[in-house]
Amino acid sequence: MTTNYDPIAEQYQRSKQAPWRVHIEAHTLLGLVGNLQGLDVLDVACGEGFYTRRLHQQGAAHVTGVDLSAGMIALAQEQEQRHALGITYTVGDACDLPYMNRFDLVAAAYLLNYAPDRTVLQAMCNGIARSLKPGGRFITVNSSPALHFPSAPSFRRYGFETEIQGPFGEGAPITWRFHLADGPFEIENYYLDTAIHETALRAAGFSEVRWHAPQLSPAANAEHAADHWNDFMGASPIAFLECIR
Ligand SMILES: C[S@@+](CC[C@H](N)C(=O)[O-])C[C@H]1O[C@@H](n2cnc3c(N)ncnc32)[C@H](O)[C@@H]1O
Repeated sequence: MTTNYDPIAEQYQRSKQAPWRVHIEAHTLLGLVGNLQGLDVLDVACGEGFYTRRLHQQGAAHVTGVDLSAGMIALAQEQEQRHALGITYTVGDACDLPYMNRFDLVAAAYLLNYAPDRTVLQAMCNGIARSLKPGGRFITVNSSPALHFPSAPSFRRYGFETEIQGPFGEGAPITWRFHLADGPFEIENYYLDTAIHETALRAAGFSEVRWHAPQLSPAANAEHAADHWNDFMGASPIAFLECIR
């Protein structure tokens, strides 16, 4: 099990093709992001650039991607070399972002759930808030702080499973097992509840903190039976946040 993406960068990249990622994760996240025409955008925990490239496609004047994993950044840069979009990628830690009052929007898909405790969560939120211009927006998706994971339904029909070992509470590790055609791989992130997130975001300087429910794309029901998404939508393992500095 790992929180280090270097050895699993390529498998993680393939896992982004799963229908739930397309029809729920990307559909909801990019819907919240909206039109980025002319804006300066930062993608924190950008991984191999899956959303960094989408943020560029949504009109951003410039996008910067930052990730802790050199393996993920190498995959992102390979794609930038094959098809140049003018995106800047750097290896860096979200707890130690070097930017000040610079970006119109910061996006972060699956960053906050890597904070194992309140101190790290606060450092991430502080750096993101500082990186934004006043009035700038922060859009993020993470493992849901509102879901009681031990009693969640199985998500196996969607191509993954979640598992809690030991007591469930502040800082509890959540194992995500993704099933690909050539076998499974696992990652681990951490549980911190809704109130802990809201306290950290407000202390970092966000004046508005809004949770958003996952949305299903219109194409989702055309590809699957009407009840296929019920377990996911009824007990979503992911949660979306929009914050205004
Ligand atoms: C689940 S992946 C998501 C990648 C990308 N956002 C996506 O949705 O495809 C989580 C990423 O967070 C990165 N990460 C974890 N902790 C980080 C930190 N403190 N600073 C920057 N990146 C971090 C990992 O290296 C990994 O690439």
